[in-house]
Amino acid sequence: MDGNTYPHNWSREGFLGDFVVTLRPHPINEYTEVTGPHAPHRIDLTAIKAADATDPAELPTVFARSRNDLTLSVSARSEPTPFVWRNAEYDEVHFVQEGELDYVTDWGTLSVVPGDFVFLPRAASYRVVPTTESTLRAIIETPEMVSMNPLAQPGMINAARSVRRPDPTRTSRASGETTLLIRTADGFTRFTMPRDPLAMTEVVYGQPPVWKVNLAEIQPVAYLPAGGPPLHFAETPTKDLLLYTLSSRPGGRPPQHHNADYDEIVFYFRGPAPYGGLSKPGSGIWIPKAVAHWGPREDPEGGYLAWLIESGGTLRLTSEGLAAAELMETSLFHPLKQDDA
Ligand SMILES: [Fe+2]
Repeated sequence: MDGNTYPHNWSREGFLGDFVVTLRPHPINEYTEVTGPHAPHRIDLTAIKAADATDPAELPTVFARSRNDLTLSVSARSEPTPFVWRNAEYDEVHFVQEGELDYVTDWGTLSVVPGDFVFLPRAASYRVVPTTESTLRAIIETPEMVSMNPLAQPGMINAARSVRRPDPTRTSRASGETTLLIRTADGFTRFTMPRDPLAMTEVVYGQPPVWKVNLAEIQPVAYLPAGGPPLHFAETPTKDLLLYTLSSRPGGRPPQHHNADYDEIVFYFRGPAPYGGLSKPGSGIWIPKAVAHWGPREDPEGGYLAWLIESGGTLRLTSEGLAAAELMETSLFHPLKQDDA
């Protein structure tokens, strides 16, 4: 900001397409009241009542859906999944907010820790075994194929060091009758199988398609001195879904922004520093497309880790999501009623 001019950026295709930067005489993101479904909210992952926290047979609890069939859920499982899960029509990305788990997959076991993104393509089978008393995960399901942005290597992600795949020597030890659940767009189909479909002798060719990378090992991109747009590290072919690190980085405060083609959901993973009005691990924000926002500074002392989902399909919170959400102002991301300055 320079004197009484307020920069504003309007962009297409997230941060990838055309954009126009203007200076304005006052902020244009402020409002004192908002009614209707397309309103920015704070949302707290830890406050969503996850059905599988108390009943191991339950599925993750959906807290948001997009018009393009993207689904966001929460799982707070403390007991192993009592079935094998296989998604027929959706790729999955899981983010581990709290706790540790073993993903027992078709290709061995992948152990995950807080901050891990776990990539599970469709037709991959798995069950999860919590190895800590409690866990909390955000689960993204998309009808498209998710892959790493080729531009993320080597600058953002050192794949040789930071990408991990299941350990093929730690195979499923289950035996006997197994329930397999297959998810499709129209529901769930339950197979009772005489033997464990995850059992494996060895991998003889190729690379298991399940992988993980930790948020702390994804380098944020910054164009000094100003900062500039972030760069996504994972994407789908039509770019309906883009995933970013939004962790602290050098640079000034970003400009006011209209993101013409995307809804944004940001989750604060941990500090020590806050990200604007977000300081509680697992808390987040949803900014629907076409709503102007002016994010906080991204370089506070001590730093923080956060991540961003851009969804081409307009999002709506479910009743379970709304129960853990509150209206928000679009400057520092405080509750609307508390601080509109
Ligand atoms: Fe934005």
